[in-house]
Parts: sequence; C-alpha cells; structure tokens
Amino acid sequence: MHSINTQVISKLAKFKDSGEKIAMLTCYDATFAKISAAAGTDILLVGDSLGMVLQGGDNTLHVTMQDMIYHPRSVAAGAPDTLIIADMPIGSYEADKNTAYQNAQLLIEAGAHMVKLEGGGEMVNTVHHIVNMGIAVCAHLGFTPQSVNQLGGYKIQGKTDISAKKILQDAIAMSEAGAAFVLLEMVPASLAKQITESINTLTIGIGAGIDCSGQVLVLHDLLGIYTGVANKAPSDYKAPRFAKNFLCETNSIQQAIANYVQAVKNKTFPAIKHSY
Ligand code: KIV
Repeated sequence: MHSINTQVISKLAKFKDSGEKIAMLTCYDATFAKISAAAGTDILLVGDSLGMVLQGGDNTLHVTMQDMIYHPRSVAAGAPDTLIIADMPIGSYEADKNTAYQNAQLLIEAGAHMVKLEGGGEMVNTVHHIVNMGIAVCAHLGFTPQSVNQLGGYKIQGKTDISAKKILQDAIAMSEAGAAFVLLEMVPASLAKQITESINTLTIGIGAGIDCSGQVLVLHDLLGIYTGVANKAPSDYKAPRFAKNFLCETNSIQQAIANYVQAVKNKTFPAIKHSY
C-alpha cells in the first residue's frame, strides 16, 4: 500500500481552489498527447472508447486490459506534465476489489496517474479499496457504456425521479469513498448541477450540461472524424448530441483543441443544444 501521487493531489487542489473549468480530452497516442498538451488540455483520458474510435467496434465491450495497458505509456511520453487517467476495461474490476486494485496498478505502471471505472452502488467498496491502496479513481456514473446492453442502448439516464435520486446517491457515495472525480455521462443538466453542488468531489460532464466542474470529449468527436463502426457506411452514423466538431472552424488540429479548451473555460461549451 502506498499513498496517492502528490502531483495528482496538488493538481486536484489547484482545480478546486481556482474554480476554473477543467478541460479533459480522450487521447490514445504520443502525437495527439503532445498536441493536446500544447493546446492547454488539463487532463488526458485514455478511454476504452478506443474500442470504437481506434479498433472500429460498435461498443467498448471487447476492450481488454492488454489493449488498455498499451496506450498510457505513449500518452505519457507525449504529455509528460499532463494528468493522465486510464479506463479500467470491462471484466477488469467487477469481480472483486483485490483484482480491481491489481489491474488498476497495471494501468498506473503503464503511465496513468488515475484510473476510471464505471458503476455506482456496487462499485463503492471497490473504489474505496483502490483509493485506500494509493491509486486515485474517477467514478463514471449516468450512462455507463460498458452496460450499454443492460441499459437498452445509448440512452439518457436519470430522467425519472427514482433514477435521478439513485445517481445522486451514487455520486455522494463515490465522493465519500474518496473518488477524485465523478464523471457524469448523458444525464439531465439539472441533475448534473444538483450533483456538482451536493458533493465535494469535482464533476466532469459529457452530455451533462454546463454546470459540471469540467468537461470531457472524445478526441475523434472534437475533430469530427468518427463515422461509426468500421464496417458500416458513414451515412449510417449519427454523432451524439453532446459531440461538437471544433475542427470545422479552423484548419489546425491544435487550434481546434485549443478552441475546445477555451470554450470549456469560458463556459460556451457545452451549449444547450449539446445538453439534455
Ligand atoms: O471511454 C471514454 O472515452 C469515456 C468518455 C466517453 C468519458 O469514458
């Protein structure tokens, strides 16, 4: 057992103290890490979205620990001073908290500073254990892509009073368990606001409105280059409501990312049309 990396702690404290909105972006390789860091991105997320945007799958359910371990080192090489979070893939953390910790440790050894895992109530003890063992955790609530089949597809979560209350309770429990961030995906903006105001932990939104402590976007959505499953026609693909192509307003990838960062900081992104 060791304690959470002091650099991570000081970066979190800086985000909290400044109150500045946090701009997070997914990243999977050194070149984009370098460009994203130069553009001012606060946090790089090695998301298991790589199963879709890099591997061409129609969800994240086939992503393995081996896949996830490959990428953080490259991202860390390109952005040595940027906070890096790596996703724990499906099957790597649900069975028991010790296995979860061991797999989290492999992602840290691969170059990440923090891990992210999906799920609420049933995962609280696991998050508490990983944090106690010295690894910072981001808890992913709301729409959790690894449960896409159980959730009946890509659907907004927390629309009813009961489900909104459950997400709020999960966020409070994750905060009390020591989560460094609570990431909220595809929940009503009003619920994300209530959660952000109710917990000490910083929130990161994707399709969760403007009031979270920060935002995350998938790099390929920011660049407008993702066109869906590899073996299907691009015309079959409809980008999610929360996605925005920042590259169409400039001819530079670095400027597009800088514009995203700026839009998050000055609270012009997400707009109402990107929220639920
Ligand atoms: O895997 C991923 O990129 C994510 C983001 C969509 C938040 O979890």
